[in-house]
Amino acid sequence: MTNNLLEGKKGIIFGALNDKSIAWHVAEKAHAQGARLLLTNAPVAMRMGTINELAEKTGSEVFSADATSMKDLEGLFNKALSVFDGKIDFVLHSIGMSPNVRKGIPYAETSYENMLKTFDISALSFHRILQTAYRMDAINEWGSIVALSYVAAQRTLAGYNDMGDAKALLESIARSFGYIYGKEKHVRVNTVSQSPTLTTAGSGISGFDALVDFSDRMSPLGNADASDCADVCITLFSDLTRKITMQNIFNDGGFSSMGMSQRAIEQYRKSFEECPDRQKDV
Ligand SMILES: NC(=O)c1ccc[n+]([C@@H]2O[C@H](COP(=O)([O-])OP(=O)(O)OC[C@H]3O[C@@H](n4cnc5c(N)ncnc54)[C@H](O)[C@@H]3O)[C@@H](O)[C@H]2O)c1
Repeated sequence: MTNNLLEGKKGIIFGALNDKSIAWHVAEKAHAQGARLLLTNAPVAMRMGTINELAEKTGSEVFSADATSMKDLEGLFNKALSVFDGKIDFVLHSIGMSPNVRKGIPYAETSYENMLKTFDISALSFHRILQTAYRMDAINEWGSIVALSYVAAQRTLAGYNDMGDAKALLESIARSFGYIYGKEKHVRVNTVSQSPTLTTAGSGISGFDALVDFSDRMSPLGNADASDCADVCITLFSDLTRKITMQNIFNDGGFSSMGMSQRAIEQYRKSFEECPDRQKDV
């Protein structure tokens, strides 16, 4: 469905690695809603992924930037101001990586070098992007900046490792910078907390298939997919949500408000049938 919700708007999309990436879906929908885009990713991801295909589809320019480098980010925002011949209306931060998750190092066994890298890439990069945009005064009044989060910011989920801490920090940065950016420039800053989604980053989490199934059984509306997430981002970029800021919006089919669902109970009971010894403990 297209309503030209983003007609005349210009945005930077971080994190489209391939057509499974949530950022890819956001870019496609933003383009369909009339926006002009600048696509960006880390230099290594530009070589490994298929971002140029997305650029062709959406008529966008591509500029590589490591989101942990202030120099790269300044270059990126300068590029955007020149490509768009003016200020930017929206930014999507769709960036996550944990060396611990990638290498299967348990949470309690981490090195602080690994942990700092997780925080720098997955959370501080959001502060760096906000600070760069703020210093350069690169965002139009009533602009909108969105980052993608996960419920592991509030709840402990086995296997999500230090990404849970990174997401808690990410959501806190949205509130802290959202206050300053809102008060001084009327720029909105929010996070969208998304269901587990089958992407390159998602499938790195240990036990991810079970997590996707559990979440789906627990959620009255079922898991939200990447396309559902893109819809929420589009509304947050649009003028329909001008007074929403400093929020974490759960796009998770209701998962975050659930304790136990009938569908999950039924699956859990089946596991008792397979393991009769466990049933004695109940
Ligand atoms: N997939 C899920 O289950 C899920 C659920 C909730 C939230 N999220 C979040 O959504 C966002 C996007 O992830 P995705 O699932 O689409 O996976 P993805 O692997 O497609 O995207 C992650 C992106 O981060 C980029 N990136 C990593 N290091 C970078 C750096 N230094 N500079 C710039 N970019 C860098 C990667 O190149 C990649 O494009 C992440 O923040 C992720 O934590 C994902």
